[in-house]
Amino acid sequence: MMILKTNEQVELMRQSALLVSKTLSEIAKDLKAGVTTLSIDKKIGQIIGDHHAIPSFLHYKGYPFNSCISVNDVVVHGFPNTNELKEGDIVSIDTGVILNGWHGDHAYTFAIGDPGKEVMKLISVTKASLYKGIEKAVAGNRVGDIAFAIQDYTEKKHGYGAVRELVGHGIGRSLHEDPQVPNYGKRGSGPKLKEGLVLAIEPMINLGTREVYTEADGWTVRTKDGKASVHFEHDVCVRKGKADILSDYSIIENAEAANPNLHTYQQALQSVA
Ligand code: MF3
Ligand code: CO
Repeated sequence: MMILKTNEQVELMRQSALLVSKTLSEIAKDLKAGVTTLSIDKKIGQIIGDHHAIPSFLHYKGYPFNSCISVNDVVVHGFPNTNELKEGDIVSIDTGVILNGWHGDHAYTFAIGDPGKEVMKLISVTKASLYKGIEKAVAGNRVGDIAFAIQDYTEKKHGYGAVRELVGHGIGRSLHEDPQVPNYGKRGSGPKLKEGLVLAIEPMINLGTREVYTEADGWTVRTKDGKASVHFEHDVCVRKGKADILSDYSIIENAEAANPNLHTYQQALQSVA
């Protein structure tokens, strides 16, 4: 059952989404080689707590951390651990909050140093595919329109693999609500989008094969071929004509650009030129 939100509820959800954005931007400030993903997870828990919110991933279906931190060939749901990030790693940081009873949940992939042109392009295309999907998140369209837009751009145009096993989702008082939002599908198929529906749209795109497997810990999802995977996620509210993006990448991007230890696609292009 899809739960539509009132304008007041959407504003509360914006606050939740923005707290996740703020948290990721704080983390982006001191991301660098040598930092452990467990220390990032601890800091995420602190920031969320400092804002009188609850980390929504912790204990969700038994999940044992505040965040999912997925390095290189880990697609999603990576466990924070005591391994240090290295130059050339890419890292997806995905976290969620409950603030005033409303969930925010989003993710961003960072490059620690230079992972090389091929992987930087995967990051750039995956991020762009998220916006291609968001363009279709308007009243009257169907879930399949979002799904098709992401798949068409990443698979057909760029030859990457869009992961099938994991999907985006509705979000609200619960972390996962209807509908499921796959990153592949047919135009015009699936549930109809209505104004006030809030979705977490989250392309998970692989450099090589789209096939993945789950590790024995029951959570960590990796690419079958060991090649890189990238994950970006926004919380958006379906509106007539244009979706309203509740989360805010600009503060994360500013922190990323100001951190000399992080590589951005702009820098990658310059190094080629
Ligand atoms: N961002 C993830 C999602 O959208 C949440 C991971 S599940 C958790 O489904 F257990 F880690 F919370
Ligand atoms: Co999500």
